[in-house]
Amino acid sequence: MKKPLPKPLRHLAVIMDGNGRWAERRGLSRIEGHRAGAEAVRRTVEGCRELGITYLTLYAFSDENWQRPAEEVKQLMHLLRQFLRRRRQDLHKHRIRLLTIGDLSRLPKATRDDLSAAVEESREYENGVLVLALSYGSRQEIVRAARRFAHEVAEGRAAPEDLTTENFAHHLDTVGIPDPDLIIRTSGEMRLSNFLLWQASYAELWFTETLWPDFGQEELRKAVADFQGRERRYGRRG
Ligand code: IPE
Ligand code: IPE
Ligand code: MG
Repeated sequence: MKKPLPKPLRHLAVIMDGNGRWAERRGLSRIEGHRAGAEAVRRTVEGCRELGITYLTLYAFSDENWQRPAEEVKQLMHLLRQFLRRRRQDLHKHRIRLLTIGDLSRLPKATRDDLSAAVEESREYENGVLVLALSYGSRQEIVRAARRFAHEVAEGRAAPEDLTTENFAHHLDTVGIPDPDLIIRTSGEMRLSNFLLWQASYAELWFTETLWPDFGQEELRKAVADFQGRERRYGRRG
């Protein structure tokens, strides 16, 4: 682990966007763009390790992405399994724990099995945490959390008044994961697309025109340097 950054950046979250456009501009198929995107993931995980960023959350597949053509979804699921196979050694070597957020029940069983094996295998690792947001939608996550709490009330294990912002967060998929300090979105789109709506309350946002497959360590450093200059006031006086 490198020396800590002057302003703590524990958790970086990334909306990895622009794979399709990257491929289109090269006259390639969209899947080639996703494949190149997987390389950018590798570089970013490495960059975070070098910068001493402990948590990295990657928005890999949204709940809404299920509405894409079946062929693209299938290819993305295949790519995910390939990524898990290929990166397993790295996670092991660098003692990085793998976690997931999202509604995994919608993933194909083989993908789910590979994921739970990788998560299980890394559960004791403490050098860093890679969180994959898969079949993830923040509104859906919040509703699932509300439902869990409602069940506790229905079963007499909690009273409505027990609900606070702190313990509500314990019902979210991100339980145990600190809120993101910085969210990066590539490809020039300036929206959150249903990503970490609750958790991003006080996250700093950083946008770049760069398409995800072109994202690299230099740009990661630029984002982190920019973050270092931000004043995080949390509603207080500066
Ligand atoms: C991001 O790239 C990857 C996923 C959403 C799975 P896109 O596939 O959204 O690429 P663009 O936005 O069409 O360029
Ligand atoms: C957001 O990208 C989801 C992921 C990066 C996985 P999209 O390309 O799906 O988002 P929109 O449709 O442009 O908002
Ligand atoms: Mg997109």
